[in-house]
Amino acid sequence: MPTTRIILDTDPGADDALAILLMLASPEIKLEALTTVHGNVTLDKTTRNALALLEFMQEKNIPVAQGCSVPLVKPPHQAQGEVVHGASGMGRTNLPGPKTQTIKAHAVDYLIERFLAEPKELTLFAIGPLTNVALAIRQEPKFAECVKELVIMGGAIRSGGNMSPLAEFNISEDPHAAHIVFNSGIPITLIPLDATYKCLLTYADIERLNKTDSPIARFVRDVTADYMEFYLKYEGFAGCALHDPLTVAAVIAPELLSLESHYVDVDISGGVSTGKTYADFMKVAKKPANIKVALDVKGREFVELFIKRMENLAKQ
Ligand code: RIB
Ligand code: CA
Repeated sequence: MPTTRIILDTDPGADDALAILLMLASPEIKLEALTTVHGNVTLDKTTRNALALLEFMQEKNIPVAQGCSVPLVKPPHQAQGEVVHGASGMGRTNLPGPKTQTIKAHAVDYLIERFLAEPKELTLFAIGPLTNVALAIRQEPKFAECVKELVIMGGAIRSGGNMSPLAEFNISEDPHAAHIVFNSGIPITLIPLDATYKCLLTYADIERLNKTDSPIARFVRDVTADYMEFYLKYEGFAGCALHDPLTVAAVIAPELLSLESHYVDVDISGGVSTGKTYADFMKVAKKPANIKVALDVKGREFVELFIKRMENLAKQ
């Protein structure tokens, strides 16, 4: 089976943690490095969480490079993230503080170094604000042509937003970065809220998983505890959307995704719809398609796949 070699840019974050577990549980994937970015919580916390999670998973060969702490233009607002992901960013888990450290290189320099060293061999996943990726594109003109594929969790096409009525969090947190990335020429697959909101992990799923009575099952329960409470309180649903984990389906179960190629961009005009992503379905702009976007998904099948892989991981 061909292995997809992945570098993951991430802002852990409860669902980021689940995406990392799913990548580690998938034989189709070799997770080669993490780069951290501001987003759900502050950069020092997203970086700490990335290091602590890899130690929890006893992963000793996955380097972590720390990236940008603020968006390119907009001020950050992490307060929103802490409501959903807990003060630490990892819900109610109590992972020990990491003993390992990040590598010395800044995430942007590390991304440039890795992708230029092996052009078109590595796949980049971005499941937080796109600040690091945008700066790599701007700093090194050759970067974009060296990325085999970029898979992004972000955006809301026909769906409403989750950060504002129109905008999804990752894109809304740094819309200028997203505009640079969307127009970079990199082959992009975008996994927006249109699909991720159909992948809902429920309390019943958590209970089922915890029949395995394992540290992994308890971690999934604890890392999603605040997330689940948030959804119950604000969205009236006892569960949580597997936003970041669904990106992994692009490699392990692409048949579950309904992908369409369109010209996609993001509003950076500064008005009320700033951060809103849109697909030019009517080809008004007469621009070539730049993104494959998942407008639908077999959501329950993906959740079942996620649980199965967590059960397997728990037995390892
Ligand atoms: O809108 C969902 C996205 O925002 C996910 O990546 C979640 O981790 C948050 O970063
Ligand atoms: Ca994220």
